Amino acid sequence: MEFQKKGSLRGEVTVPGDKSISHRAVMFGSLAEGTTEIHGFLQGADCLSTISCFEKMGVSIENKGSLVLVHGNGLHGLKKPAEILDCGNSGTTTRIISGILSGQSFDVTLTGDESIQKRPMKRIIDPLTQMGADIQSIRGNGCAPLAIRGSRLHGIHYTSKVASAQVKSAILLAGLYAEGPTSVTEPYVSRNHSELMLKLFGADVSTEGTTATIQPAPQLCSTKVMVPGDISSAAYFIAAGLMIPGSEILIKNVGINPTRDGILHVCRQMGADIQLLHGKQDEGEPTADILVRHSSLHGTEIRGAIIPTLIDELPMLAAMAAMAEGETVIRDAAELKVKESNRIAVMVENLTAMGADVRETEDGMVIQGGKPLHGAAVDSHKDHRIAMTFAVTALCADGITDIKDAECVNISYPAFYEDLKKLMAH
Ligand code: S3P
Repeated sequence: MEFQKKGSLRGEVTVPGDKSISHRAVMFGSLAEGTTEIHGFLQGADCLSTISCFEKMGVSIENKGSLVLVHGNGLHGLKKPAEILDCGNSGTTTRIISGILSGQSFDVTLTGDESIQKRPMKRIIDPLTQMGADIQSIRGNGCAPLAIRGSRLHGIHYTSKVASAQVKSAILLAGLYAEGPTSVTEPYVSRNHSELMLKLFGADVSTEGTTATIQPAPQLCSTKVMVPGDISSAAYFIAAGLMIPGSEILIKNVGINPTRDGILHVCRQMGADIQLLHGKQDEGEPTADILVRHSSLHGTEIRGAIIPTLIDELPMLAAMAAMAEGETVIRDAAELKVKESNRIAVMVENLTAMGADVRETEDGMVIQGGKPLHGAAVDSHKDHRIAMTFAVTALCADGITDIKDAECVNISYPAFYEDLKKLMAH
């Protein structure tokens, strides 16, 4: 797909529902008693993979577009699926569902696409095994396909080496089925959507510092979930609005949970004009409209506790840094190497092709900003966040940029190019 600069971006956009929250709403709704209403569900391929896995385990799910109804089977009502569970491209589905499946009374095999079969699963296999689960990586390489034999679980206190909400959530969900309390301590706090939503469903979850604890639950109660717009999808319009001269974009109803809002802090640190309007607290998840205006940005340092709060936005932030004045250093972000693609290597490869000065480090990147960018052939490596990052970067570069496998945006934002075009045609 080809992209070319076309002046400023102006107007309003409503981004689709939050991916993390959409997944969790289907999972917890499936385990609850009664019908859960999910408003603003993300109709992206990843979340549809989660729906399909639970349907295969006997849950009745009515997908009516922006409203999804999940008729829960209760904590002990899932059925053994007749076939392998296919998690597609979704790490969130694969890892969190493994926690749930560990405590069932049946065996199951789960797998996903080529990318999923390369992503590390030892990070969930180890703690779940400590809880009494029986999970085997079928090829013995610590990756999917995984064979999970339902087992009796007991609570543990796990100290995780990585700040990962997928790992934390897998353990907490297994904890619902365990004997005794289960807790997870992380090096930094990762996104807390599971903790907030599990409370909505009636579970006993508490947090203290970087530790989250869950008590085994007799049952979960169905509820209504309002899914806010995904700040990770808003990130591309935040960047476009800030980088493209003359732009002003209002992004409506975006989730600004403090465990996800690192991009706003870093952009402001770089000199961005960003305003939050109409802030409100929807069922535990805060939201606001985000107004961005073109700003002249300078480099910064991004490291430490803020990293998990902007992990999925780092590709876009790296591209912004290439266009900002001065040096930007990104550290403590080795997790980027094990996402849908190796996002450090892929960002360096593609930004370099467009004329940027960027160097890969062990756990991040060093970017000397301010070099003019030119169009180039770039490869998304079938990674949705890379494709969207370069669609925006292309609008700041001279000449034509050709993005390979650009349609992979269907994972988290199927209408991304249409929404971008509408803002270009203001
Ligand atoms: C997610 C957690 C993050 C994030 C991913 C979604 C979640 O992954 O990158 O896109 O929904 O829990 P990690 O848990 O691997 O950090």
